[in-house]
Amino acid sequence: MIDNIVIRPPLPADHLEIAALIQNLIPRYLSREVTPEGVAILRAQAQPGPVGARLNGIADPTWSPALVAATGSRVIGFGAVRGGTHITQLHVAEDWHGRGVGARLVRGLIEAVQQRHPAAETVTLGAVPGALTAYLRMGFVPVRPRWRWRGIVGQPMQIRVSNLIHRKAPRPAIRQKSRGR
Ligand SMILES: CC(C)(COP(=O)(O)OP(=O)(O)OC[C@H]1O[C@@H](n2cnc3c(N)ncnc32)[C@H](O)[C@@H]1OP(=O)(O)O)[C@@H](O)C(=O)NCCC(=O)NCCS
Repeated sequence: MIDNIVIRPPLPADHLEIAALIQNLIPRYLSREVTPEGVAILRAQAQPGPVGARLNGIADPTWSPALVAATGSRVIGFGAVRGGTHITQLHVAEDWHGRGVGARLVRGLIEAVQQRHPAAETVTLGAVPGALTAYLRMGFVPVRPRWRWRGIVGQPMQIRVSNLIHRKAPRPAIRQKSRGR
């Protein structure tokens, strides 16, 4: 049930599951239009070491705030902000796609940004090609042409903080799908 999902800050040991979550998404979702060099960079960045360092950096974690979506002991989603107002990570396990987990993580991240930076009007991200529609549905809009860096592509998008907070109420329940969860 979607109601059993907890959105919470990551625990130190979660970096192992978060790394596995991202690694699993690379072949099908994160590699689209990405060169082999780009894929190698994505794989390297998604190793437990770099993920743990970005989450648990002693003086200054690179990914902060960060949130996981967990059901029981399983981490099924992960999102993180860097630089104050930029969502740099958003990942949901494939078997949970389309059930509102990503939107809940985004909402949680934006609320956390708002608490830390009350004057922030917008939150930004760089969407991979396959995630563009999902972000549009969440209220993000493209703001500049796509960038390409070492074979990785991203569509700069932003959302006005007030849009997400007030756009719609949290999703109440799981959608009608044949999967019995
Ligand atoms: C992109 C991603 C994070 C979205 O998370 P999610 O939990 O599947 O998304 P949600 O269920 O919260 O959906 C939010 C909205 O986007 C829509 N949506 C989600 N995935 C979609 C898709 N592939 N195509 C079209 N619309 C989609 C939903 O219908 C929903 O719209 P609605 O509220 O109007 O019904 C997730 O699919 C994912 O992890 N993908 C692989 C990794 C990835 O691409 N990460 C992004 C890196 S920039």
